[in-house]
Amino acid sequence: MSLFITFEGPEGSGKSTQARILYETLQAQGYPVILTREPGGTRIGEWIRQILVDLRHTEMSPATEVLLFSAARAQLVNELIGPYLAEGGIVLCDRYADSTYAYQGYGLNHNLDDLHTITAFATGGLMPDLTIYLDIDAERGLERKRQARPAPSPLAPHLAALQESRPPTYGKPEWNRLDARELSYHQRVADGFRKLMLREPERWRRMDAERSIEELAHLIVEAVAPLLERVQQYNPPPNQSLPDAAHE
Ligand code: TYD
Repeated sequence: MSLFITFEGPEGSGKSTQARILYETLQAQGYPVILTREPGGTRIGEWIRQILVDLRHTEMSPATEVLLFSAARAQLVNELIGPYLAEGGIVLCDRYADSTYAYQGYGLNHNLDDLHTITAFATGGLMPDLTIYLDIDAERGLERKRQARPAPSPLAPHLAALQESRPPTYGKPEWNRLDARELSYHQRVADGFRKLMLREPERWRRMDAERSIEELAHLIVEAVAPLLERVQQYNPPPNQSLPDAAHE
């Protein structure tokens, strides 16, 4: 058996930090685990991400946006998530299909049934076993993200030129085309996430993102613990060492 866990939340909710902490915790416990993100996570997906977040792409049509997110997702499921789950591992993903329902569905008013159809085509119907939702007021989250934004670098034009020819790498929080949308959009997204949780309460765990990083990390480990028995560890942990041969 395998385990697929996703992290969702509005901008500035701290989900990427928590995804990384859980990844490090599970890895230290000897679990086969990978951490990836959307949009991105593959070479092709990171290119698509670059197109999606580019502040210059103001002319992008809403349908193009949906299809690009879905294309990146299709590549990620096919290339990484699907094969790793098939091996019995744990996949942690920073955002997944619920973001499309919240951002493009509730945020941009796309028909949710259409989005389900496109998502099922892209993913083969793969849905997470557990989704951690870090809840924060949309305005407060945007403020936190603005504060975390790196100061513009004098090298910016040079770096932008490099990005023309190279896929980007993971970096500091970026202020992107989607963040730049008006507050009412982000409020619709946050409301959308709450509606999604109400539809499938057993899959979601909502947590208050204003709690400390340590407290949240602890709550997340607690939420994940009951599901871990379906995954085989690489090494038995110290308290489950093999029986002493002399007693056999
Ligand atoms: P992400 O890297 O999670 O941004 P952050 O960590 O800065 O919150 O996601 C990039 C942006 O893409 C973010 O604004 C949310 C948006 N997004 C969608 O609109 N639809 C989607 O399906 C996904 C996966 C992300």
